[in-house]
Amino acid sequence: MKDAFGRKITYLRISVTDLCNLRCVYCMPENGVEKRCHSDIMSIEEIITAVEASADCGITKVRITGGEPLVRRGIIDICRGVGRIPGIEEICITTNGVLLPKYASQLRDAGVSRLNISLDTLNPDKYAQLTRIGRLEDALAGLEAAEKAGFTGTKINAVLIGGVNSDELGELVGLTRDRDIEFRFIELMPIGECADWDKARFIPGQSVLDAVPELVEDGMSGVSRMYRVPGWKGRVGLIDPISHRFCDRCNRIRITADGKIKPCLHSSGEFNLRGLDRDGMAEVIRLAIESKPGRHMLEERSSESIRNMNEIGG
Ligand code: GTP
Ligand code: 5AD
Ligand code: SF4
Repeated sequence: MKDAFGRKITYLRISVTDLCNLRCVYCMPENGVEKRCHSDIMSIEEIITAVEASADCGITKVRITGGEPLVRRGIIDICRGVGRIPGIEEICITTNGVLLPKYASQLRDAGVSRLNISLDTLNPDKYAQLTRIGRLEDALAGLEAAEKAGFTGTKINAVLIGGVNSDELGELVGLTRDRDIEFRFIELMPIGECADWDKARFIPGQSVLDAVPELVEDGMSGVSRMYRVPGWKGRVGLIDPISHRFCDRCNRIRITADGKIKPCLHSSGEFNLRGLDRDGMAEVIRLAIESKPGRHMLEERSSESIRNMNEIGG
């Protein structure tokens, strides 16, 4: 269905846990988050019902997010269940990749269409610092496992952070030389943990084009402006919610692990889905879509979302 600004809403991002096996400094509090009691997060059945209700409202694409979705118990059942819902044409996962050696094949068998893997740096020390508890080699093993399991169209996401990965943009773009991947740079958004960070940390997507002048424009892909180095196999994407706000093309809603619909990543509005049956959920989803804000105000102030990024999943 269409929202009040005429945008067709077809894409649901559903967070299945706010827990994570990493502690990225811009996303997670240092000590992680308290494990919620089992009944505080949606059960597998509720998640499936919520996606069925979303399909009733015109959703055709589902992305499973977290925290880290692969730490959720029953993740394979969730994927299989969502994949069976009539009307859902595409099911994708955004993951840090660390658990892919264990799960990639099972996810593919369960009907997952595509993976997006987060990888902010290729420097092992920086990776350890940025993720607080992670090892670069585990993330790289995840990438390899995705390929081995037969996934194609895998995208890699790197959040641009001044003073952290701003000196390795050329190297990161270099990954597209021999691999048929989409490597996307995301502008850091002032939300949750990084809402008050120094301005110097927030660098524009343009800095990638400055670092690699060989990049030429190559159209749009979702919310990402695409580029490529002529002759190279892969493509480079810029997701720049701040310098090139893309809200007028926004086609998505979100559901948090505790069962709230967020019509917009950066607004405080939320609608509860718990305790409702499929029709009840569909009614609330329609209300949420009707109330979706036209745009965020990140140019002027931090996100109005009352949640940390690990609760929303991007
Ligand atoms: P594709 O289906 O492959 O196009 O994936 P996607 O870009 O929709 O999903 P992904 O999880 O890879 O998102 C990439 C990043 O873009 C996320 O980390 C978010 O931080 C950011 N992002 C995604 N959706 C939105 C949005 O609606 N608004 C804003 N401001 N940022 C978003
Ligand atoms: N700004 C931009 N992207 C973010 N992510 C997490 N927090 C932020 C933020 N503040 C990214 C992760 C991952 C995706 C799900 O969200 O790196 O790629
Ligand atoms: Fe959509 Fe809100 Fe993101 Fe803008 S900020 S693109 S309206 S979710």
